Amino acid sequence: MPEEILRVEELQKFFVTVQGTVRAVDRVSFTVHAGETLGLVGESGSGKSTVAYTVVGLYAPTSGRIYFEGSDISRPVAKRSKALKRAIQIVFQDPGTSLNPRRTIQQILELPLKVHRLTVGDRKAEVVELLRRVELPPEYMYKSPHMLGGGERQMVAIARALATKPKLIILDEPTSALDVSIQAKIINMLIKFQEEMNLSYLFITHDLSLMRNVATRVAIMYLGKICEVAPTAEFFQNPLHPYTKMLLSSIPVVLEEEEALKPTKIISEGEIPSPVNVPPGCGFHTRCPVREEICSRVDPEAVEVSDGHLVRCHLLNRQ
Ligand SMILES: Nc1ncnc2c1ncn2[C@@H]1O[C@H](COP(=O)(O)OP(=O)(O)O)[C@@H](O)[C@H]1O
Ligand SMILES: [Mg+2]
Repeated sequence: MPEEILRVEELQKFFVTVQGTVRAVDRVSFTVHAGETLGLVGESGSGKSTVAYTVVGLYAPTSGRIYFEGSDISRPVAKRSKALKRAIQIVFQDPGTSLNPRRTIQQILELPLKVHRLTVGDRKAEVVELLRRVELPPEYMYKSPHMLGGGERQMVAIARALATKPKLIILDEPTSALDVSIQAKIINMLIKFQEEMNLSYLFITHDLSLMRNVATRVAIMYLGKICEVAPTAEFFQNPLHPYTKMLLSSIPVVLEEEEALKPTKIISEGEIPSPVNVPPGCGFHTRCPVREEICSRVDPEAVEVSDGHLVRCHLLNRQ
């Protein structure tokens, strides 16, 4: 196993609102190894972006620890060193709002080079090089973000992240707002950059099928908690958590052999509860088709069922 680059331990992030305390992320633990992609998958509102923002320091954790290359970095971005900020970059879902509309692409791509004093030669030449890497023509540097298409804007956001030569990039639904054809192009580019630069990715998405060819390991989030983590092949062949089975039963399959492996269709009951009003016991019990009495009382602990395959479910031995 390659070295561990990111370790998140028992992370909690709560928001106090007029409606009550939102338990957006509740005791989440995971690791990302050098050069791998951890896919963090969950429905809207499950807490994925909150994990992302806390790891990059946009939010301070309520409790828990975040380690980067072995050092504790559980603090907001204002208290992080420049070297650390360089090493961890984020690409947001919506490149329309993450790129400053009043700046040209040149200014947007020059900024990280200036802030981190990364330019060795001609800064403009470096901007051209960054554009080339994301397959955009050099004259795009004179444009402003609104003159670009959604996919092109996201490529600029990726170029900006690459500018600091990071070790870890957090991709928060980077293709969710884009056409399928552009989505494939961006994913292929991300895979290429990962190989070239030995990058690690925390790839956040609500689209589980996307992870099949992208993730090294997959983690499933539900209502602020991770309910199952496994290496990708194991994950798709031997899903164990009822929620994972529910998600897998509703994604399209490509091959007939996969159809045979697919869990029988599970119809979800009800909606995802509000994180202000988290049910006691297992967070999924209100929608779980196989729940038992204990599930509404006791929150299950994670159990490692095989190498790197962790599941939080009381019924593990009974399914
Ligand atoms: N700044 C905030 N203040 C209050 N509640 C928030 C805030 N950010 C997120 N939440 C709530 O936390 C939960 C998780 O949100 P989020 O992390 O954005 O989920 P996801 O990215 O999986 O869709 C949601 O219920 C959301 O409404
Ligand atoms: Mg989100």
